Amino acid sequence: MRIALVTGGGDSSAINAAIRSVVHKCYAENYEVIGIKRGWRGLVLDEVEPLFLGSVKGILQAGGTILGSSRTNPFKMDHGVENVIVNLRKHGIDAIIAIGGEDTNGVAHRLAEQGVKCVGVPQTIDNDLRGTDYSIGFDTAASVAMDALDKLHTTAAAHHRVMVLEVMGRDSGWIALLGGIAGGADTILVPEVPFTLEEIEKRIEHRRAMNRDYSIVVVSEGAKPAGMEAQQVRDQKKDDFGHVRLGGIGEWLAYELEQRTGYETRVTHLGHLQRGGTPTLFDRLLATRLGEHAVEMVKRGEFDHMACMSENKVTSVPYSEALAGKKTIDLSLYELAKVFY
Ligand code: F6P
Repeated sequence: MRIALVTGGGDSSAINAAIRSVVHKCYAENYEVIGIKRGWRGLVLDEVEPLFLGSVKGILQAGGTILGSSRTNPFKMDHGVENVIVNLRKHGIDAIIAIGGEDTNGVAHRLAEQGVKCVGVPQTIDNDLRGTDYSIGFDTAASVAMDALDKLHTTAAAHHRVMVLEVMGRDSGWIALLGGIAGGADTILVPEVPFTLEEIEKRIEHRRAMNRDYSIVVVSEGAKPAGMEAQQVRDQKKDDFGHVRLGGIGEWLAYELEQRTGYETRVTHLGHLQRGGTPTLFDRLLATRLGEHAVEMVKRGEFDHMACMSENKVTSVPYSEALAGKKTIDLSLYELAKVFY
């Protein structure tokens, strides 16, 4: 059995832990692994390299991906899918394991519909893939947001300021919500729940009246003020999957809140810090378990499915379910957060 391993889309901290797990499990099963470089691009352009135990030595704790990543979509390229099929045949590849988010797994699903044997592994800091409780990389990213909030608290209190922290989260506010609860944010704004400036102002004033002369607001990049259709966009240019680059809601919010409350307001943009660094224990274990399980799925012939975590058990879900829309936040947790506002 020869398995191609591809990592695509926005990276995160525990992809290498998943690669290591796939390679070790394949070694145990006597399977060969062919690493595809820079996402689906590598299969279109025939940039591949065999992976051995030695290739994954010392990578468990390293962020990024030793294979590289891209947002290439073969379905958007001239002869893209044709080249993928030719290269799969050329290298005698029997099955593909795709590690990534909705876009990367979406390509795997479409290839599976054309008869290519594909298995997925969920990896996205946004944690917005359905069918799995957690995706690889989310826990580390939310922990980075939590750490940032811890740090912002002390300086906000010292200077009596409002601090706005903008975090990633295009359509789902998991990082803002769980990072915000764990980091004690006073207001959490997510794409799923439109907000008004009046409600935030009211909360800040309430805190002032309680002698808490500072406030911490965490906002997802995709959050929208009520009545405003568009999200704040940094770059209109679309990637291969049709996404524009979001960002800027933090600056807008900071300006508006300063005008309304009179508090000096500062904004911190966490950006790609959320995607790098050492993976947490949770992410390392998740990546290790899902990577191993993906190979097991190939062995069982469970194709067009994604490995997943459900109620702390590793299992699998059909791609058609995992890719049927985004997994949005748990609204009961959003309500819980409000207890502390
Ligand atoms: O897909 C995950 C994600 O982290 C989104 O939250 C964010 O909008 C996007 O990636 C940023 O991508 P890039 O690194 O390509 O700018």
